[in-house]
Amino acid sequence: MVDSGLHLMTDQELVMLIEHVRVQTGINLDESKRYLLESRLSPILQNFSIGSYTELLERVAVDSSIENQALINAITTNETYFFRDGHPFDLLKNKLIPDLLKRNQNKIIKIASAACSSGQEAYSMAMVLKETLFDLSDSMVEIRGFDISSKVVTAARRGEYSKFEVQRGLSEDRISRYFDCVNGRYQVKPELRSIVTFGKQNLLKPLSIKAEYHIVFCRNVVNYFEDKDRALLFQNLASMLVPCGVLVIGATEFINDKPGNFIKKNEQGSVYYEKVG
Ligand SMILES: C[S@@+](CC[C@H](N)C(=O)[O-])C[C@H]1O[C@@H](n2cnc3c(N)ncnc32)[C@H](O)[C@@H]1O
Repeated sequence: MVDSGLHLMTDQELVMLIEHVRVQTGINLDESKRYLLESRLSPILQNFSIGSYTELLERVAVDSSIENQALINAITTNETYFFRDGHPFDLLKNKLIPDLLKRNQNKIIKIASAACSSGQEAYSMAMVLKETLFDLSDSMVEIRGFDISSKVVTAARRGEYSKFEVQRGLSEDRISRYFDCVNGRYQVKPELRSIVTFGKQNLLKPLSIKAEYHIVFCRNVVNYFEDKDRALLFQNLASMLVPCGVLVIGATEFINDKPGNFIKKNEQGSVYYEKVG
């Protein structure tokens, strides 16, 4: 350890930690990320009174250990904000929901926010649904967020944000319509929260969810994965979708040249993928 509180790792510990992170999360780091690993993992050594990264590796070898969850929480990058990139939410409002309602007279709508981080994407979808359907009690609408990090899942369930967080992506009008402001914190109103739930899920592990969702957003995560894990992610996302269900990925992301389960579609410049029926 050096004076800054940073615990330094050996080359062998670095290689083993990179492999552990890849196996646990799919996140593909390389040896240039030594400083990132040291700065994010040093607090774990400190908090759990662990003497070395070799000892940390022994503790995290047990998947369900609190040290392993702390490592996953520390390594994942959870950057997100309301209505991120705008156009996927226009696509949802102007195309995906109207198409779904035309096909689906009983008004059941099930949407997933996969790799949801602290919930801003899922709550943005709930705002779009409210602004499209008006009366949420008139339809069977469900939005479910999933993430591998227990820390962000807990934050998402709370649905409470700072002023800075709500101002990132939301107009004053949406802030006052959809949030209760208490002591300078902004909590999503119960009407929206009643249709949104969250759960911890590694999207690279077998999913218990089977062909339930009409629409899945999974944005700004696949670029962290190597090819084998990208393919596994898309297979898993396909398995969550009903036939002809829709997958929306991030603006800089793509499905490898043979999407297999998906047909690529383009609606006024917005790309999405439809599961083969
Ligand atoms: C950059 S955030 C993106 C959040 C949101 N989708 C957006 O676009 O704003 C990436 C999220 O992916 C999650 N993540 C990383 N690997 C994952 C995995 N294997 N399974 C589930 N979630 C994962 C991280 O915890 C993080 O919250």
